[in-house]
Formats: sequence, structure tokens, C-alpha cells
Amino acid sequence: MLLLALFACDPKDETPAPAEDSPTYYADVRPILDTTCARCHADGGIAFSMDDPATVVSMATAMKTAVQSGRMPPPAPDPSCRDYASSDRFVLSDADKATIAAWADADAPLGDAADAPGPRDESLVSLAPYDLELWAAQPYTPSFATADGNDYRCFLLDVGNTDRTWIRGMQALIDNSRIVHHVVLFQPDGVDDLPADAHDGFACSGLGQGNWSTLGAWGPGANPTVLPDGMGIRLEPAAQVILQMHYFDSFDGADAEVDQSGYGLLLTDSVTHEAVNYAAGPTNISVAAGDAEGVARSTINWPTNAQVLAVWPHMHLLGSGFEETVIHADGTETCLLKMNAWDFHNQVTANFLEPATLVPGDRVKIRCDFDNSAENPFQYSDPPEDVRFGEGTQDEMCFGFTLVATPVE
Ligand code: HEC
Repeated sequence: MLLLALFACDPKDETPAPAEDSPTYYADVRPILDTTCARCHADGGIAFSMDDPATVVSMATAMKTAVQSGRMPPPAPDPSCRDYASSDRFVLSDADKATIAAWADADAPLGDAADAPGPRDESLVSLAPYDLELWAAQPYTPSFATADGNDYRCFLLDVGNTDRTWIRGMQALIDNSRIVHHVVLFQPDGVDDLPADAHDGFACSGLGQGNWSTLGAWGPGANPTVLPDGMGIRLEPAAQVILQMHYFDSFDGADAEVDQSGYGLLLTDSVTHEAVNYAAGPTNISVAAGDAEGVARSTINWPTNAQVLAVWPHMHLLGSGFEETVIHADGTETCLLKMNAWDFHNQVTANFLEPATLVPGDRVKIRCDFDNSAENPFQYSDPPEDVRFGEGTQDEMCFGFTLVATPVE
């Protein structure tokens, strides 16, 4: 008894009991973090881990400020343009922002561990278990000596399928998120022009090659691509794919890091619709130093009847807005994807709840906005420098990787 009483008097143990109605970490805040923040803020993720309660408590005020300013979670596609799977997990509700603020204001009480939510739903980062995991044949240490700290490395991978098969879902499997800046999975139309030891890895262009088509792509913060039932991306028997890794030197010691990443696939052996990924967007990007309102656009004439299943918008660090729109022959428009702000660390694939319909005569328009001013918090040149289209992290891109399905004959 005496011992207990002594303990109770120890000033270090005097955690103030939370006010009756103030939110607690376990009951109210943890569920929000699991749903909205953990895809980046977890052990092995791209930002500081929120897995440890003490860290979260120490960051309470910073979290309140970050969510109230709209900086966190980073900007995501606007669901009111075209709604997509789990959009409510990419955009934080006003009610959740208020809960985080009220909890921080109440000195971030932990509450009762018995109120902790169940296991986290990992579907925003993973489709595991996969039907097939394809990994680079060996670990690689990037070389950043040239090309401004960018290193592109490609690995030829054997799918190992004896029959035609179809990809119905996919996600990059990132080994070392500290150095991987993006990943593209290509399908080459022939491999005769590749080096003999292409399985072991070879230096390649960040833009791929003319005879490679894009199967899937990943950037920091990216979620899996999931196709609707009955739709798939075709892989012919004994298919070979190319895993393209883009490594970037963003911290001291990055050149000592090792990576061996891969891609996880969900497969099916029959579909009603074949899906193909188009990299739509302009390659004539040029934004003058200091220009806060740079724009790049392109429009293509759409030739067939098709459905748009998903869009993955891709720009580099200076992007500030993205818009992909269908312009119909009668002048009306259909919004596919719209963002009024951009953070490189949040490259969300919008897997649409309802596919959009394309018919011959439609045009698909892409517009990217760039902020190359000194005021852009993501500006990396001091003073700003002219920026053009290119494969390096310090160049810019403006692509809508647009997944389009047509009926299988
Ligand atoms: C798509 C990935 C992603 C998601 C989702 C995300 N963050 Fe972040 N967050 C980051 C990255 C990357 C950084 C580091 C940015 C930097 O320091 O430049 C960061 C930094 C922070 C910081 C510290 C620096 C700052 O800006 O104050 C806080 C606090 C934070 N995040 C809170 C949150 C909260 C709360 C959520 C969920 C409501 C969240 N984040 C969701 C990627 C993410």
C-alpha cells in the first residue's frame, strides 16, 4: 500500500487526467492517423514514423498546424472532379482536423490503450498477398557521380507465365524509400536491343525507349493501381518486363545506400476488357526562372470507344496544379482529374469509382501548372533557374498516366 501511495505522489507520474470530453490519442487520434497519415508516416515509410505514441504526442502541435494549413496530408486529386476509390482517406475531413486540434490543445492525452483501434488497413499502400512478386535480380548501389545526382537503372525481369495472363492490380515494392524517387514498369516490344546481362541491371534513360510501353508507375506516396472486375492489362506467354528505378541523391550518404525493389502483381486468366496505360502530356515544358505561373499543355484526338479507369498524375518538384479533361465534340467537358496544389511526395493514383466514357471525336486535354518562383516551398534552386522537360528530378514532367479499357474481341 505504502509503495503504491508513494508512486501516486511521484510528480513524474502526475499525468493530468484528460478532460471528460477532450479527444485522446488511443480513442480518437490514432484512428485518424491510421486512416489518413500512416501510408507515409510509418516505419519504413517516406516521412517520420507515427508508429510510436511518444513521437506522436511530441508532434501534436506540429500536426495541428500542418493539418490546419492544409499542408498535411499533402494535396490529393479533388474528388468533386471525379470520385475515386478511398478518396475520403486521401483528403482529411474538417471533423478530423478539429479532433486533432482539440487533442493538441488539451496537451495531447494518451487516454486508455484499451480504446486503441484494431490492426491498420494497409490497402492504401499494399495489395499483399500478391499473385506474383517480381524483384530486381540483385541489390544495387546507385552511382550519383554524374547527371546531377540522378541515376536510372533498369532490370529485365521474367514474368515466368506459360499462358497469356492479365494484370488486375499492381503496386511497386519499395525496398529503400530513402533513395527511390520513382519506379516505372515497362513492357518492351522485343529485347534484342538490350545488353546481354540485362537481367542483372543496366543504365537506361529515364524516359524509357520508343519500343517500351508503360504498364505501371510509382512515385513517393503512391497507392496501388486496382482495375475493376473483368478488366486487365495483357501479358503474353513468357512475358518479360522492365523495372526502371530512378534513384536520387537527396541527403549525405545516399551514395552508400543499397536497394533491391520490385513490383507486386495481382493476375487473372480471363477478362472482358483490355486495359492499356497511355502516358498523355506535353514534352515541350519550359518555365522561366522566377515564373510562378508556368503552364504546359497538350491535347490529343481520341480515336476509339473506350473507358478511362484510372489516372496517375506525374510532375516533379515544381508542379503546382494538374488537370486532365475530356472535351467532347459538342464542346461539353468531362473532368477526369484536378489538383489545385501539388506535392511530389503524394503521387496518388485515382482509381475511378465510375469509369469515364471516351468516343471517337473526343479530345483529351492535359494542363500542368508550375511555380518556379523563389517563394515556392519546394524550390530547390537559389536563385531559381530556367526549367525544362527532362528525366532528372531537377527537370520537369507533365504526364497523366491514363489507364484506358476497350472490350476484348
Ligand atoms: C503522401 C505522404 C504523406 C501523408 C499521407 C502525410 N504526410 Fe506528413 N509528411 C510527409 C512528408 C514527406 C513529410 C516531410 C516533409 C518535409 O519535412 O519536407 C511530412 C512531414 C510532416 C510533419 C512535419 C513537418 C511539417 O510539415 O510540419 C507533420 C507534423 C506531418 N507530416 C503530419 C501529417 C499528418 C497529421 C498527416 C495525416 C493527417 C500526414 N502528415 C500525412 C508525407 C505525408
